[in-house]
Amino acid sequence: MHRSTSVTPSHRFSWTLTAALLAGLWGCAPAPPPAEEPAPQWPELAGYEAMAVPEDNPMTVAKIELGKQLYYDARLSGDGVRSCYGCHLNENGLTDGKPVAIGAFDKTLTRSSPTLWNIGYHSELYWDGRTKGLEAQVKGAWRGGNMGASGKDGAPSMDDVCAKLNEVSGYKEQFQAIFGGEANPDRVAQAVASFMRTIVAVGSPWVRFREGDESALSEAARRGYTIFSEKAKCTNCHDGLLLTDLQYHNVGIGMDAESPDIGRAKVSGDEKDTGAFKTPTLLDIAESAPYFHDGSAATLEDAVQVMLDGGKPNQWLDEENLREAKEAELTEEEVADLLAFLRELNVDYDVSSPELP
Ligand code: HEC
Ligand code: HEC
Repeated sequence: MHRSTSVTPSHRFSWTLTAALLAGLWGCAPAPPPAEEPAPQWPELAGYEAMAVPEDNPMTVAKIELGKQLYYDARLSGDGVRSCYGCHLNENGLTDGKPVAIGAFDKTLTRSSPTLWNIGYHSELYWDGRTKGLEAQVKGAWRGGNMGASGKDGAPSMDDVCAKLNEVSGYKEQFQAIFGGEANPDRVAQAVASFMRTIVAVGSPWVRFREGDESALSEAARRGYTIFSEKAKCTNCHDGLLLTDLQYHNVGIGMDAESPDIGRAKVSGDEKDTGAFKTPTLLDIAESAPYFHDGSAATLEDAVQVMLDGGKPNQWLDEENLREAKEAELTEEEVADLLAFLRELNVDYDVSSPELP
């Protein structure tokens, strides 16, 4: 599918309303409108196709607020000590700073926490895209290894957690007002998904640059962008406003392991997808070390060098899309400029924690 790279402002985008909503979500808030009133706007990327929102889960200000509370609440987890936010932290570019995540009951998981910037624009979730839609993803993370509400081995189930939530009057009232009933796993998932759709990197230097404000990036970063987009063609995969084509590629990470993580192939059943993973966005990349799905690159320099080497050799390497990167043979200054560009892909505002009921 072609993704728009133009800078035409979307009709649905309104700075005033966006600013009002942002103030509510990320700072001290004007009072939210009543629950039944749908939020007509939330921060969306101008110049990108509209975010797909399921018809049965319309965005409302109250639902987004509730979802945000649940997202930050460790009471959701099976072991009671970790929240969704706990592995997608601000200071780590919405990742957790670990090579691979440590899940519920301190079980070491197999993959690294990805950033969640602009996640509402992804129709397939996870490094291998195995889950369609954020509502399903929330339940997957919640009952799976990340949050551990599995209902097995003495851990509470999602229903058990909901029963607890219903004992908290602040939650009970919100669920009643928004859904006309008590908390249940579907409603929790709908609320958390709605909140995640607001994690949009509007106003970042990258977005301002794409909107035509050259001064949003330093001179070195602008030179770096030319290398990124024209010489090394990182844009073959890290494409467009999202800096990802939302497709799966084998760049060779972890393929030398004894039994490699086959990534997308497990989902598609296609051998050609062996070792292919979803192209990550590069927003906030300077904050989100270590890198790659297995956390195998400790620094940004290391990760970029892997790409400039044309990936790591293996049978299923996407040589076609990595050819320009490999052949670019950048000088030291060019590499420095490329890194300057990547380091300026930071996102300005914080997703700050709400007060919990
Ligand atoms: C223990 C750490 C941890 C916790 C807690 C956690 N996550 Fe994650 N999250 C991860 C990891 C690791 C992945 C990647 C897993 C994979 O690709 O197989 C991930 C992936 C995701 C993705 C997909 C990102 C993408 O690029 O496709 C979303 C969305 C997400 N998490 C949201 C949540 C939500 C919502 C919760 C709470 C219900 C949650 N996470 C709790 C570690 C965590
Ligand atoms: C063939 C498609 C492709 C091309 C071309 C490409 N990348 Fe990537 N990039 C990926 C994929 C896929 C990953 C994730 C790999 C993994 O973890 O298995 C990735 C990961 C990264 C990461 C680590 C991101 C993270 O969150 O862990 C950085 C940094 C990066 N690429 C930079 C670049 C730069 C700079 C270029 C150009 C020199 C480039 N990439 C070219 C597909 C590509």
